Amino acid sequence: MELIRSIEKMAARSRKALEQKKIIGFVPTMGSLHEGHLSLVRRAKKECDLVVVSVFVNPSQFGPQEDFAAYPRNLKQDRRLLQTVKADILFYPEAAAVYPKNYRTCVQIEGLLTKKLCGFFRPEHFKGVTTIVAKLFNIVLPQRAYFGQKDAQQCVVLKKMAADLNFPVEVITLPTVREKDGLALSSRNKYLSLEERRQAPELYQALLVARKMIERGERNISKVEKAMKTRLSTIKNLKIQYASVVDGETLDSGKIISGNILIAIAVILGKTRLIDNLILKVKK
Ligand code: PAF
Repeated sequence: MELIRSIEKMAARSRKALEQKKIIGFVPTMGSLHEGHLSLVRRAKKECDLVVVSVFVNPSQFGPQEDFAAYPRNLKQDRRLLQTVKADILFYPEAAAVYPKNYRTCVQIEGLLTKKLCGFFRPEHFKGVTTIVAKLFNIVLPQRAYFGQKDAQQCVVLKKMAADLNFPVEVITLPTVREKDGLALSSRNKYLSLEERRQAPELYQALLVARKMIERGERNISKVEKAMKTRLSTIKNLKIQYASVVDGETLDSGKIISGNILIAIAVILGKTRLIDNLILKVKK
């Protein structure tokens, strides 16, 4: 596996690959890699000629009170894991090169898409995500980019950005990878105490409660949301940010469930923010 730190070298390497008619697959990450990330790399390896994985803990997507400083960083282990799945290039640019002192430009989606769900609680987050991903797309020049469904809103937002800005990139979403007890893999699971780790799979259980209700014919959104909140309310030290049933494409909430829907939860468990979701197709 090639290691590239320099933005210029990465861009030159990608331009060369494109000249050779190679399909570049891209997996952007913030490192602290787990099986969820590796599943993206494995799929990219199947579908592309050159697979680039970036590791960059992007400061602009963290709020002032958030965990940028504490975010787990472990490049040595990331490198080792990426070798096991045969990634071709690990790109890990320096923050000072990505955002030099005179850096001023950002990419932001207008309207409500980035203000709902996670965006309501993390007002600057998606501006940071769209900005860094747009920059990385311009450097890595992928035809295909892979993201995990666990960050459902991020996937919707990035598809919209790629379409609106005519990036010649297919944004591909792959299923959430879970622990045996249902907890969605996340780099932030490392923050959980033993007790919190025992409680965390309840998020998935609450999602399953919602899914079962809908599969059994419930179409009233507030009833389903209430059932999820009731399930989560029994957990000590857990604050619900949202437990919502929304349209899977627009993220709009309505009154009646139909079409492609997203059941999504965000909570603060102790001090750790956890999110999870399920997607579901509901016949009209
Ligand atoms: O999902 C993530 O890890 C990040 O939001 C991403 C897409 C790498 C941008 O920093």
